[in-house]
Amino acid sequence: MIYVTGDCHSEFQKLGSDRFPEGKSLTKDDYVIICGDFGGVWYGEEDYTRRKTEDYWLDWLDEKPFTTLFVDGNHENHPRLAGYPEAEWYGGRVHKIRESVLHLMRGEVFEIGGKRIFAFGGAASHDISDGIIDGDEPDWRRQAMFMELEGKIMYRVKGISWWEEELPTEEELAHGLERLAAYDNQVDAIITHCTCTTLQNKLLAEMSHPDRLTEYFEMLRKSVEYDKWYFGHYHEDVDITMNDVLLYHTIRPL
Ligand SMILES: [Fe+2]
Repeated sequence: MIYVTGDCHSEFQKLGSDRFPEGKSLTKDDYVIICGDFGGVWYGEEDYTRRKTEDYWLDWLDEKPFTTLFVDGNHENHPRLAGYPEAEWYGGRVHKIRESVLHLMRGEVFEIGGKRIFAFGGAASHDISDGIIDGDEPDWRRQAMFMELEGKIMYRVKGISWWEEELPTEEELAHGLERLAAYDNQVDAIITHCTCTTLQNKLLAEMSHPDRLTEYFEMLRKSVEYDKWYFGHYHEDVDITMNDVLLYHTIRPL
C-alpha cells in the first residue's frame, strides 16, 4: 500500500496512530510519501539542542511500521540532505536519512508496490518577498533585526533558512528527462513539491511567479502519461483535476 500526503515542515504528528490509524497495520513494504517540505533535516551543525529534537522525530518516523519517503521541497536544508549516504533503491537513487526514512532524489523513477513513480523535488520559495540576507555576513542577525523592526518579515537567511539549491540544476532537469525516456514517458504517478506553471497560475493568480521548474513541469504535463500527479507547496487540499492533486493535511492512497 502506498499513501501520499503534503508538507510536514518537521511536524510529523499527522503520521501518528491517532490521526493515521491505517498506519498501524502497515509494514515496511508499505509507504507514505511526503510531497516536499519534509523539514526533518533543517538545522545547522551548531544548533545542538534543536538537532536533538530533529533526531528524536527522525527516529520516531523510523520506528513507525511503514517506510517514509519524501521529495524535497523548498523548505529543506539541501546541503545537509545531500550529505546523507546515497543508495540505489527500487530503480532510483535515494538519500538514506534513516533505515526506513528515504529522500527520493530529483529526476528518479522508482518501481514500488507495483507502481512506477517519478519523483522530482524542489520549488521556488514564495515567502522571500522582503529579500534574502547572506548568512555568511558577520552581522546577519543585526540585518535581520532591522528588517523585522521595519515590519519586513518575509525574508530568509541564506545558509540558515534558505538555500539556492531549492531550484534544480540543468543536470538534474536533464537527468529527469533521461529517466522518463527510459520508461517511454509513462508512469503511474508523479510526486513533486510545486506544480506546473498553468496550475500554479490557477492556484496563486497574480501571486504566481513561474520559474524554470514550473516551466519544466509544464513541459512534462504535456509529454508524460501519468494517472496521478501529487504535489504540495501551496498548503491546501484540492483535487485540481481528475489527475492533478494538491495535498496538505490529507493522507490518501496513491
Ligand atoms: Fe510548505
